[in-house]
Amino acid sequence: MSQTYYVTTPIYYVNDVPHIGHAYTTVACDVAARFQRLMGRDVMFLTGTDEHGMKIEQAARKNGETPIELANRVVKRFQELWTTLDISHDDFIRTTEKRHEMGVHKLFRQLREQGDIYLGEYEGWYCTPCESFWTETQVGEAINCPDCGRSVDKLKEKSYFFRMSKYAEPLLEHIKTNPGFIQPESRRNEIIRFIESGLRDLSISRTTFDWGIKVPDDPEHVIYVWFDALSNYMTAIGYGSDEEKWQRYWPASAHVVGKDILRFHTVYWPTFLMAAGIELPRQVFAHGWWTVEGKKMSKSLMNAVDPNILVEKFGVDPIRYFLLREVPFGLDGDFSMQALVGRINSDLANDLGNLLSRTSGMMFRYFDGLTPASGPLQEREQALIQATGERMEGYRADMEVMAFNRALMKIWEIVGSLNKYIVETEPWALHKAGKTTELQTSLATTAEGLRVIANAVYPFMPSSSRKILQALGCTLDGDFSFSFAASGCHMEQMPALFSRVEEVPVVQEESPASQTPAESERIEFDQFLSVSIRAGKVLTCEKVPKSSKLLLLSVDLGEGTPRTIVSGIAQSYKPEDLPGRTVPVVANLKPAKIMGIESDGMILAAKNRANRHEIPFLSDEVAPGTEIR
Ligand code: MSP
Repeated sequence: MSQTYYVTTPIYYVNDVPHIGHAYTTVACDVAARFQRLMGRDVMFLTGTDEHGMKIEQAARKNGETPIELANRVVKRFQELWTTLDISHDDFIRTTEKRHEMGVHKLFRQLREQGDIYLGEYEGWYCTPCESFWTETQVGEAINCPDCGRSVDKLKEKSYFFRMSKYAEPLLEHIKTNPGFIQPESRRNEIIRFIESGLRDLSISRTTFDWGIKVPDDPEHVIYVWFDALSNYMTAIGYGSDEEKWQRYWPASAHVVGKDILRFHTVYWPTFLMAAGIELPRQVFAHGWWTVEGKKMSKSLMNAVDPNILVEKFGVDPIRYFLLREVPFGLDGDFSMQALVGRINSDLANDLGNLLSRTSGMMFRYFDGLTPASGPLQEREQALIQATGERMEGYRADMEVMAFNRALMKIWEIVGSLNKYIVETEPWALHKAGKTTELQTSLATTAEGLRVIANAVYPFMPSSSRKILQALGCTLDGDFSFSFAASGCHMEQMPALFSRVEEVPVVQEESPASQTPAESERIEFDQFLSVSIRAGKVLTCEKVPKSSKLLLLSVDLGEGTPRTIVSGIAQSYKPEDLPGRTVPVVANLKPAKIMGIESDGMILAAKNRANRHEIPFLSDEVAPGTEIR
């Protein structure tokens, strides 16, 4: 087994609003990366954003900004979501970075020099939303994109072509002799049929727009977004810029993608690599497609499920668990609130949560929190230990092939068998009967089982795993064997691991506040003038002790004495972000006591798409105390 493990998500279109479909790919890769790190491998986990192309150029023009301004503004949606979802990526590549351009140029130049890229003329159809080229036959009589069904544009322009046809045979050969290359199996057959129906040379440059990487020495041409985007897997690890890193991590162990972009990853990408004489990635894994309550998530996002809201309502670990437990990785799945709430209440709060709280409760009641050594093992313990060992072996094998839901099922079989073991051994009765040795065995066995579970569950639910281990007084070490390592450890009393939840609406609304107010809700101008909103300069800012949401600020409103203001923005701004900045403050509110502190004013802020506060800052040109009208 290689000591390095390099796993990638696709790079996300930077101006998309992330939904659970996006979250799914990234969480899955995070689980794979965390598992491999736990197994001691040198892991490189990459994600990033796809920032070029006509779509971005058009969107920026519509907003009156440059494409890079748009990209810089919206890239945060993804970066913040990955923080929210506890994603442990080692790098985040943006295709607008220099290191990326250097690598793309290197690949392009090499292929052009060896004659695999040539200048020609493209005539055919193009779907801008999908960034895909189509032939006359493919668009059919309706002249629509065969993938998304939308109308396509006729293109006739000079274009560089990649000699893809030349690599059809070698690619087929590779796919046939490396059964693991495309996973799952059903997808592999689909791709084989596609290649067998014939590969044409691929148009890989455009001249009708500007926003992209320019063809080296021919800047009229912009490199096709997929040639640009796919190269990220190499440029992020130093291809064309850092030879040592490149050698260390290439070839990738796994590119994880949704089934919609499998063709790009298993036809275009490997032929580019073959032409360049670069080893192919070991595996491309295509996961399935999420629908919501039976319906496709629409581009307009009216029914897209916002992962930020899910995490806010249910916590990050339950969401990560649900995404990977609910659907076998590789198949399509449906998101329903009922299923989510059911899983949280039964698998997490009931099965795992109760196992920990019962164990901990008895350990404190009978042994002052010190996990005892086990007495002699009886048949019951031996059977439990053997079954746990077998399940963990299966778990490891499942994790290696990304069979995440099977791996979780094995962990929950252990959870179930431990809960059953407690019921059968009745530690409370053993205690009552003074059977101390048996009581020790029973609780030592349960605690050790929990230790194994906490290690196994770590890739899926890192912070819950840490909490269980902390409660047991143990550490995360990837030791899945039933070795009674928990014995002799001091347990710590902890609040309940998971709470029971109820269904709530979580579908994104495009703009909840954008409805025109009813006549009866409108106010007079005088009423508006009665609210005094003023510019305030933040002098100092610190966290309110024992609160994760509140910041305590001292704000100059030009009144001589600064105001004390408590503001609920601590999850969006760090204390050091604000001193020196000018913010809008509602200045004539009656003071209010918040966590014992009298707050005299309110800072205005909006919640952004990632559910974080954004203060509309004023420039230094606005003096403290100035009225805002
Ligand atoms: N930018 C390209 C990828 C370039 S990779 C060199 C792209 N981006 S995307 O933002 O549209 O999609 C990123 C990933 O999200 C893909 O793997 C896609 O399959 C996944 N999903 C988007 N919607 C999804 C669902 N509804 N369900 C599951 N996954 C989905 O494609």
